[in-house]
Amino acid sequence: MKSILVTGGAGFIGSNFVRYMLNKYKDYRIIVLDALTYAGNRENLADLEGDPSYFFYEGDIRDELVVDNLMSNVDAVVNFAAETHVDRSIHEAGMFIETDIKGAFVLLEAAKKYGVKRFLHISTDEVYGSIEDGSFKEGDLLEPNSPYSASKAGGDLLVRSYLKTFGVPVLITRSSNNYGPYQYPEKLIPLFITNAIDNQQLPLYGDGKNVRDWIYVDDNCSGIDAVLHKGETGKIYNIGAGNERENIFITHTILEYLHKPKSLIKPVKDRPGHDRRYSIDTNEIRALGWKPKHNLEDGLKMTIDWYVKNENWWRKIKEKQAEYQRFYEAQYKDR
Ligand code: NAD
Ligand code: DAU
Repeated sequence: MKSILVTGGAGFIGSNFVRYMLNKYKDYRIIVLDALTYAGNRENLADLEGDPSYFFYEGDIRDELVVDNLMSNVDAVVNFAAETHVDRSIHEAGMFIETDIKGAFVLLEAAKKYGVKRFLHISTDEVYGSIEDGSFKEGDLLEPNSPYSASKAGGDLLVRSYLKTFGVPVLITRSSNNYGPYQYPEKLIPLFITNAIDNQQLPLYGDGKNVRDWIYVDDNCSGIDAVLHKGETGKIYNIGAGNERENIFITHTILEYLHKPKSLIKPVKDRPGHDRRYSIDTNEIRALGWKPKHNLEDGLKMTIDWYVKNENWWRKIKEKQAEYQRFYEAQYKDR
């Protein structure tokens, strides 16, 4: 496998994955296709500009001509491209259906046409829904609760159908919540770190006791690499590091590390349809020889340090995010 099309490679996990792969495989060629939506940013890959193994195309995965053109010349596809933020899917779900389902369809059609050797679709543990006790296994029922997770589940089912009907060699990963460098400051950890740096309030939803299982982004990248190279065609692999924590714990950890007061926490109205707890069984991926390298404490410190040192990266983005927030609040204040 020498040539890989990485869609959504200018986003958070995609850009970390591209960097990870080019560091590890010196003879690989990575072609990034990214529409540069609000979440995409070429600066996430700035250090790779000029690397002869890295190519960037600005374009949409729903654009058949562009996808056809790129797919004709690659061995494998890793599809990260998606609308990804649950709160945005609650405000406006249309683009989630467009990218997460229609986009996956366009990619699958081209993969079928050109006979790509591996089609790795990046999904999420959110497709299973919420679980009170125990952990979800890959074969469990899909019970998504937000328009985001429902459109991701739709994409997963379409991927499955292209294996069963057309023999496209697909694989799916479903990871838990990622954190690390280059994450857009709308998601819990980067939002709370950057707000705390600026002494702004941290809007904690509901009672703050919802549980997420956190994985450092590099560990997800090594898991995706393991599945791409060693995974069994047609299988789904959960990827998680077993760091289940309540949101209030993450919030206190960030504030303590930055020496900021707990009074910055602002309890706010809960997210509609808010999943209480995510938990996944990771025996399948561990059977490939994968395990995470980072514990939550060190991963969080590295992440907070990164945001402290990279204000240039997030200040511009945070201003755009604030504009979106103001627009949304004006638009939806009566609903
Ligand atoms: P992100 O929002 O940071 O990045 C998404 C990228 O996709 C952006 O670069 C954006 O420009 C691009 N994109 C969006 N629509 C596109 C389109 N129509 N055509 C081409 N490019 C488009 O997302 P992320 O957090 O890096 O997530 C990447 C993938 O991993 C997603 O599929 C997401 O569902 C999945 N995932 C994320 C997490 C997490 O915690 N962040 C956890 C599990 C799974
Ligand atoms: O589980 C994997 C998923 O994790 C990915 O598929 C999604 O793309 C990714 O966005 C993430 O979804 P979550 O909804 O879990 O992540 P988010 O960072 O939005 O929220 C994490 C938790 O923090 C959740 O319980 C809601 C809460 N929260 C979030 C925000 C943005 C707050 O309390 N306040 C906030 O302002």
